[in-house]
Amino acid sequence: MNSKPADAPEPMHALIDARLSRRGIIGGLAALPLLSLAEGQAAASPPGGLTFASVPATQADTVTVPPGYRTQTLIAWGDPLFENMTPFDPATVTRADQELRFGQNNDMLALFPAVFAFPPATGQTSFLMCVNHEYVEPSLVYPGLRSLRDVTPDQMEAVIVAHGVTVVRVARDAQGVWGVQRDAAPGEGLNRRITPNTPVIFDGAAANHRWVSAATAGWNVANPSAVADAVACGTIANCAGGQTPWGTYLTAEENFDGYFSLSALGPETETAQADAAWMWSSGSFGTPLFSPARARLTPPRFDVAKNPYAPALYGWIVEIDPYDPTWTPRKRTSLGRAKHECATTALAKDGRVVVYSGDDQINEFVYKFVSRGKFNPAERTANRDLLSEGQLYAAKFNADGTGTWLALTPEAANAAATGYTAPFTDVSDVAIRCREAARLMGATPMDRPEDVEAIVDSNWIGRGAVLVACTNNRNEQPPRPGNPAREKAPGDDPAQGSNLAGHILKIEEAGGDCAAVRFRWDVFALAGDPNATSPVAETPNAGLAHVSVKHRGRPTISGDRFACPDNICFDAQQNVWISTDGAPAVFGDCNDAVMVTSTSGVGPRAMKRFLVGPVGCEICGPTMAPDQKAFLVAIQHPGEADTRGTSYSDLRWRTGAPPPSSFPDGGTAWPRSAVVVVTRTDGGVIGA
Ligand code: FEO
Ligand code: CA
Ligand code: CA
Repeated sequence: MNSKPADAPEPMHALIDARLSRRGIIGGLAALPLLSLAEGQAAASPPGGLTFASVPATQADTVTVPPGYRTQTLIAWGDPLFENMTPFDPATVTRADQELRFGQNNDMLALFPAVFAFPPATGQTSFLMCVNHEYVEPSLVYPGLRSLRDVTPDQMEAVIVAHGVTVVRVARDAQGVWGVQRDAAPGEGLNRRITPNTPVIFDGAAANHRWVSAATAGWNVANPSAVADAVACGTIANCAGGQTPWGTYLTAEENFDGYFSLSALGPETETAQADAAWMWSSGSFGTPLFSPARARLTPPRFDVAKNPYAPALYGWIVEIDPYDPTWTPRKRTSLGRAKHECATTALAKDGRVVVYSGDDQINEFVYKFVSRGKFNPAERTANRDLLSEGQLYAAKFNADGTGTWLALTPEAANAAATGYTAPFTDVSDVAIRCREAARLMGATPMDRPEDVEAIVDSNWIGRGAVLVACTNNRNEQPPRPGNPAREKAPGDDPAQGSNLAGHILKIEEAGGDCAAVRFRWDVFALAGDPNATSPVAETPNAGLAHVSVKHRGRPTISGDRFACPDNICFDAQQNVWISTDGAPAVFGDCNDAVMVTSTSGVGPRAMKRFLVGPVGCEICGPTMAPDQKAFLVAIQHPGEADTRGTSYSDLRWRTGAPPPSSFPDGGTAWPRSAVVVVTRTDGGVIGA
């Protein structure tokens, strides 16, 4: 189902190798900066401003930061958003209770100044914070449960509403301490949850696609919407996202496939399965074609047997207005349907809005959307439909360091798909099946593209520099150039072609304009160990990982080792802050971490470890406060694995042992995902 056409392009790692090989051949280029992201910025190495002492590798069950810095837990799973609520008890939480509390497994974070301003304000100390809740790890819910078979339907509904988004007011006091500002009651302020049951409106190219229409009808029968023209399917699998210049929040639906099951085959599913396009789409996303055992735990509305097209309700970018709870969230279907990691905005030079997104699955693509209309800085809400209409593109990386944004249109996709069993009927079909269109047209399959972040100026205008974090590719690849351009030891098994450590790419849009259809690209960093004595290292689970950051003897980074870059953000000095997901599976001596390096400079980029998370977590949502005096991160799934990388899931159901983390409450407390604020003890600028 997921095979690629014969003329599909080389995967990303082949191109990296080709690029680096070319650099080696032309020699002199090796002495030049890998990047020059900032116009007029002097080359400097080590990076300017990053004076903190690197945090040593640690497996401590806490958040570890450099001397001179302190941390506080701002909000954690289950904390109330409203006054007069009882303390959270993870053993008894219900759907009604969870709907009033901070959700589980926080991911993307975004701070909106309490009073909207454009250009963006830097001096405010009160914010609306939007937070994604990506998923729920079954082994980390309901302490006391001895088997997943014992989960009740009511408990499952509570788990479902632990997903989605939280909007919560937060503020910093005169001492630099941050706190949550609860509202008196739901509907009496701006604090709220958007869950997989919240009414949403489908908007844009695929709003009336036949799958969406069929899915909507089926869904609302089982779970009626209280809002006209809306579907009560809310949003789920909310990974990263973005903010718009007009003060709305974009949440990206990623691994939605895991919520669906197929309990039985029947006439409706047989009709769907007779549709080649439906089969291609299901195969690409991994939505189940038959899974009666899983269906026993699935709420009926997620059963494909009852609503074969229900998966079409997810995989979108969803726009939420944190300042206006009366505005129904919009599913922006013109941005395409994928396992979206993020939705990063930058303004083109002419005022159109550009949204970048990675599709975080092995050998999927990097996308960007360019709006038809232009941003109006004078009237905030006039911009709220800018993401309705525009052109979706997928990135094609060429071996010579150039690249093209391929415009995904039905004409182009059908021209590329001669003889394809499922031609595209119209623009809506391309939007909902953009993966297929991109693949057929020759976009470049990537090593799990996660965050895609553009550098913008103080008026949100993109400067053309964009970083793409590729977490990893665990697939063993046949030997081919640059897989992924890491040195191998003599005698290495040539089949060791996986990219376990990941890498970061840099795109430079033509003319420094984010709406350009051409770009140049280069390698920003190959993750790994700059001090490794061997290019291949044994992983904690007795596998092998390529950890050399060099190519032909030239390192791409120096300093602290790291792996599996996931979410990234820039500070005002254009340093890049990188959170990792899965690094302990490569380097067994350190929990997932936050790394930082400069985007300017010469030669290998000095990488510094700024923060290490607690046991078993991944780190998401790195966010710098507008005045640079606080750094926020989301600690996701503490306790999901132990320090040896063994999943807690198996341990819990087999032995009943307690989780390997008690973050953030300590002692014998049940672990909770949490937002952590890092500040300097002297109140100064982070990193400086
Ligand atoms: Fe949800 Fe791609 O990480
Ligand atoms: Ca992620
Ligand atoms: Ca991740």
